[in-house]
Amino acid sequence: MVQTVTDRRFKTSFVKDKLKKYKFNIDNADKSAVQFDLGELAEAQAMLVSHAMEAKQGEGKVFINCMEKLGMGNPAQTLKVRLEAAMSAGIDGITLSAGLHLGSFGLIEEHPRFRDVKLGIIVSSARALKLFLKKVKRTRRMPDYVVVEGPLAGGHLGFGLDWAKYDLRSIVADVVEMLAREELDIPVIPAGGIFTGSDATAYLERGAAAVQVATRFVVTDECGMPADVKQEYFKADEKDIEVNELSPTGYPMRMLKHCPAVGAGIRPGCEQYGYLLDKDGHCSYIDAYYRERERHPKGKISVKDKTCLCTHMRNFDCWTCGHFTYRLKDTTRQDADGRYRMLSAEHVFKDYQFSKDNKILLPDE
Ligand SMILES: Cc1cc2nc3c(=O)[nH]c(=O)nc-3n(C[C@H](O)[C@H](O)[C@H](O)COP(=O)(O)O)c2cc1C
Repeated sequence: MVQTVTDRRFKTSFVKDKLKKYKFNIDNADKSAVQFDLGELAEAQAMLVSHAMEAKQGEGKVFINCMEKLGMGNPAQTLKVRLEAAMSAGIDGITLSAGLHLGSFGLIEEHPRFRDVKLGIIVSSARALKLFLKKVKRTRRMPDYVVVEGPLAGGHLGFGLDWAKYDLRSIVADVVEMLAREELDIPVIPAGGIFTGSDATAYLERGAAAVQVATRFVVTDECGMPADVKQEYFKADEKDIEVNELSPTGYPMRMLKHCPAVGAGIRPGCEQYGYLLDKDGHCSYIDAYYRERERHPKGKISVKDKTCLCTHMRNFDCWTCGHFTYRLKDTTRQDADGRYRMLSAEHVFKDYQFSKDNKILLPDE
C-alpha cells in the first residue's frame, strides 16, 4: 500500500488526491474508471525507498517485497512501476511475492539495474519454482535466492484450506533436491513457523542459506502496528487463529478471527485505495458488499464471506498472523497491569541468533 504508507510517513497526499479525483464513482459498483496515476505511484515508491536507503547504516542490505496479487486496476503496468521505481531509487533487493510472477523479470529486464539488484521469489512448492525458472531462462538471469514459504506463515498462503496437510520441511527438501538436479546453485530460504533459534539452525543444517521470519517481530517496538493491537497478538490462543477465505485475492489468509475486519460491512474503499482491483476494476469484496446492501438497503450491514482488505489494512484492523502467534506470550514477561512487555527487534534478532535447545530469551526483569 505504497501511497498510503508514503502519506503517513512523509505527509504527502496521494490518497486524498486520488479520492478527490474519483469521488464521483464512490457509489458505483463498477470500479473500472479508478486508476492509479503511474507517475504518482513511481514518486511514492521512490520516496519510500530512497528514504530507507539514505537512513541505512552498515553492511546490511535493504529489500522490499512486491506482491503480484495487488493488481491496482492495471496489473502489469503498476507492478512494473513499483519494481522499477524501487530499483532506480537504489534498493538492494526485491522479493517477488503473492503470485507466480511468470512475467515479472520480463517487465524489468530493460532496467539498467536488472542484473545488479538482488532478485528473489517466494514459492510454496518445487513445482511453482520450476515454472518460474523455466519462464525466466530467456532473460539469462536466475533469481539470487528463493524463499520457500510453508503453510504456517503469516498472512496470505500459497496453499488451499487443506494447508495442514503440507509441511515446510518436506517442501524445502523438494526444492533443494530439484535445484541440485538442475545444477542450479541458488540459496534457499525457508519461512513460516520458524519460531526459535533452534528451529532456524535445524534448517541451516539441512542446506538452507538463511531463514525468513516475521511473527516474532510483530510484538517489537519497531513494528508499525498500534500498541493495543500488539497486545492482541500476545494474548491470542490457538483457538483465536484461523485460516479463512476472506481475502479478495483468492488466497487463503491466516488471521486473528476476532479482528475488526472479520464480518465488517464497510463501503469498498477503492476510490482512495484500490490496491486489489484487477484489470477490469473488479474485487470480490465489491460483489459481496453490494449483495448484502441489496438484501438490507438501510442501516449497517455485515459481510461474512469477504473483507475490504485495503481499508482494513490501512486502519490496522486486519490482524494477519503466523500460526505460532499463540506462542508469543511465552517470549516476554507480563507486567502487573496484565499487559505483555514489548520487545525490541534487537532482542528478538539476538534470540534467533544465539538461543539453543528451543529456549527463548525473556527480556530483563
Ligand atoms: C503480520 C504479518 C503480515 C505479513 N504480510 C505479508 C505481506 O504483506 N506480504 C508477504 O509476502 N508476506 C507477508 N507475511 C509473511 C512473512 O513475510 C513471512 O514469510 C512469514 O510470516 C514467516 O513466517 P513466521 O511469521 O512464522 O515467522 C506476513 C506475516 C505476518 C506475520
